[in-house]
Amino acid sequence: MPNSLSPRERLIVALDTARIEDAERLVDELGQVVVFYKVGMELAYGGGLALVSRLAASGKKAFLDLKLHDIPNTVERATAQVARLGATFLTVHAYPQTMRAAVAGAANSGLKLLAVTVLTSADDADLAEAGYAIGVQALVKKRGAQAQAAGIDGLVASAAEASALRAELGRDLILVTPGIRPAGADLGDQKRVATPARAIADGADYLVVGRPITEAADPRGAAEAIVAEIAQAAGHSPG
Ligand code: C5P
Repeated sequence: MPNSLSPRERLIVALDTARIEDAERLVDELGQVVVFYKVGMELAYGGGLALVSRLAASGKKAFLDLKLHDIPNTVERATAQVARLGATFLTVHAYPQTMRAAVAGAANSGLKLLAVTVLTSADDADLAEAGYAIGVQALVKKRGAQAQAAGIDGLVASAAEASALRAELGRDLILVTPGIRPAGADLGDQKRVATPARAIADGADYLVVGRPITEAADPRGAAEAIVAEIAQAAGHSPG
C-alpha cells in the first residue's frame, strides 16, 4: 500500500448526485477537509466528466467509477481518454481481457486502475443464473490474482474481503473499500458494512464513503470525524 498516505488522503467521498450543481456544492462545503472524490455513472452521465477535470485542476483527486467492460480496443482507448481527464483512479470489471486492455490504455499516465472482482450485489445464485459454475468467494480470489497478473494497481473490495485479499496478494496492491459506516450510522441499502477503523485494520488503503457524509446534517463535521477515526486506526495525526 502507498505508505506515505496521510489519513486525509485515504478518505474518498462518493458524489452520488444526479445534478452537477449539488456535487459542486458538496465539494465547496467540504473545502479542505476532503481531497479525494468519487464520480460514478449517474453523475458522469450528467456532466461529471468535466467535474473530474475541474477537481484535478484545483488540486483535488478524482476517482472515476465507470466499471468499464467492452472489447479490448474500446477499453484501451476509453481508458486513455480518462487518463487525459486527469482522473487518479478508474474502475474496470475484472475480466482478464478487459484488464489487460485498460493497463495498455493507462500506460505512461498517472491514472491508476482498480478492478471490480464481483459486484457486491451478486451472490452465488446470481452467478449461477449468469452462467458461472463458481461461487462468489472463489471468483473474488481468482479475479484478484488475475488482476495482479494483468498489472492492475488495485481492487475494490468490501472490508470483509480485504484482509483475505491482502494476505493473498501482498502489500503492493491498492485496496479501496466501500460500505463504510461509522458506529451507529444508518446502513441505507448496504448489507455488509464496516466502521472506518475496522476497514483500516482489515487492510484497506482508501475508504469510499457516501451517505454518512453527503446526507449528514453537518457534512464537514462528519468527514472530519471519519478522518480522525482513520488517523487513530492508522496511528497517525490527521495530516
Ligand atoms: O452512500 P454509501 O457510503 O453507501 O456509498 C458507497 C459508494 O460506494 C457508492 O458510490 C456505491 O456505488 C459504491 N460501491 C459500493 N459497493 C461496491 C462498489 C461500489 O457501495 N461494491
